[in-house]
Amino acid sequence: NNKIAIFASGTGSNYDAIIAAIQAGELDCEVALLVSDKPAAKVIEKAKQNQTPTFVFDPRQYPDKAAFEQEIVEQLQVNNIEWIVLAGYMRLVGPTLLHEYEGRILNIHPSLLPAFPGLDAIGQAARAGVKITGVTIHYVDEGMDTGTIIAQEALPVTNEMTEVDLQKQIQRIEHKLYPQTIQQVILHTNRKGN
Ligand code: GAR
Repeated sequence: NNKIAIFASGTGSNYDAIIAAIQAGELDCEVALLVSDKPAAKVIEKAKQNQTPTFVFDPRQYPDKAAFEQEIVEQLQVNNIEWIVLAGYMRLVGPTLLHEYEGRILNIHPSLLPAFPGLDAIGQAARAGVKITGVTIHYVDEGMDTGTIIAQEALPVTNEMTEVDLQKQIQRIEHKLYPQTIQQVILHTNRKGN
């Protein structure tokens, strides 16, 4: 089986979409671990309801990123995780995790990268007044939203749309595009035999 870990710190709507796609038979993997750096995140409740094992930590209780990432790596290995899927994990992945999983870490970002990397991408796009934005799924490297792009979907922005409308439509795209792309990446990689 294809065991994935979802890393999330927010409401977990992408976590939900991935679980739903698996239950619908559209995505052939198992969410074998949820990792969260925010002990109060809503996504943790969702994971508990679904009986997804969780690893929740508070970064402030570690001397540095290498220390908490080393513990994450141990949790990933204990749970036989093959893929890391970032879904609202608002932190740069450091060398400790990259060294173990580079090429097997995916991220979703709510803009058409390389436009609007970093925090509040939807707000950045709204303030810039762009007429097209969208969603990007990419491999994670050491940069901020800089890894190789795997999939993108564009969304036209009309003058009538508020930032809330924009966010809703971005999320609707995310919830469809992320499960589809995860499925494609996993199938493709398995076919190559690596
Ligand atoms: C998603 O919109 C995702 O694209 C974004 O956080 C949100 C998490 O929502 N990620 C980033 O901005 C990464 N830089 P969710 O908790 O409802 O899945």
